[in-house]
Amino acid sequence: MTTMPSLLAGKKLLITGVVNTESIAFATAAAALDAGADIVLSSLGRDLDATALAADVLRGDVEVVEADLTDAEHLHHLTDHLLGRWGHIDGALHAVAFAPREALAGDFLAARSDAISRAFQTSAITYASLASVVAQLAPPQGASLVGLDFDAAGAWPVYNWMGVCKAALESVNRYLARDLGGRRIRANLIAAGPLHTRAAGGIPEFELLTGAWERQSPLPWDPKDSAPVAETACFLLSDLSRMISGEILHVDGGYHAMAAPLREPGELTPSREETP
Ligand SMILES: NC(=O)c1ccc[n+]([C@@H]2O[C@H](COP(=O)([O-])OP(=O)(O)OC[C@H]3O[C@@H](n4cnc5c(N)ncnc54)[C@H](O)[C@@H]3O)[C@@H](O)[C@H]2O)c1
Repeated sequence: MTTMPSLLAGKKLLITGVVNTESIAFATAAAALDAGADIVLSSLGRDLDATALAADVLRGDVEVVEADLTDAEHLHHLTDHLLGRWGHIDGALHAVAFAPREALAGDFLAARSDAISRAFQTSAITYASLASVVAQLAPPQGASLVGLDFDAAGAWPVYNWMGVCKAALESVNRYLARDLGGRRIRANLIAAGPLHTRAAGGIPEFELLTGAWERQSPLPWDPKDSAPVAETACFLLSDLSRMISGEILHVDGGYHAMAAPLREPGELTPSREETP
């Protein structure tokens, strides 16, 4: 980790979305602790045990609170719990997404509307729900909300309705920035390149995405390394980003800026070839 040791000193942060040590949220939690933050993890009921196991790997005694972000009662309880524990929070990471398999790949038009609705509810609307929690708990000096995006500017070979959900997430981010800015609450997304996590494992033919990055990312992208995304999240959660809001920051090796593939399948980037 290369995060500055005092970057988040004294910050009280809620980190959602840790289910195992591969989770992007786990890397963010570890980086935030290294940067001096106090953190609480929240987790979905069926994932609580797995989250607790991952929390044990983190430095210190990290609390895990149950919160299904689609459940209004859970959100009330989470808000009350954080209020009782800290009195306020300085920021939160939204690292939550889910879509039934039929909404992730295959015939786009065949996905049923209940599957699409569930994906939308979990992957886009919960970002606004978490913003409400942050808004209730933010101190006068403001707070930072950070979410995780997969660039929704175009259609992918897979990802289907999750791509549509991410487009909605990007729009929600802009409206949150509009409505919360007056209270100095920022809302920003990180558009990450493909990373091997449990959620990614649920996407059929995920290798079409990692393969695209091998050919088109100018920087050598490592789909097993969440640290660059985690460290950018720490930057966005810190005061260094105090005048950034409504932004989508690409942490994708530069993939999004290239108009076409740079190399043949299997051909390594020059810098990787030179690395002993
Ligand atoms: N892995 C990638 O390639 C990649 C790339 C860009 C963006 N993202 C985004 O990063 C975020 C985190 O995903 P990840 O890849 O680390 O996978 P992950 O499987 O480790 O994390 C997904 C998390 O969502 C949680 N979750 C699902 N439904 C929930 C609900 N109703 N309430 C609360 N939590 C719920 C799960 O418990 C899990 O912890 C997601 O928004 C994902 O779309 C992932």
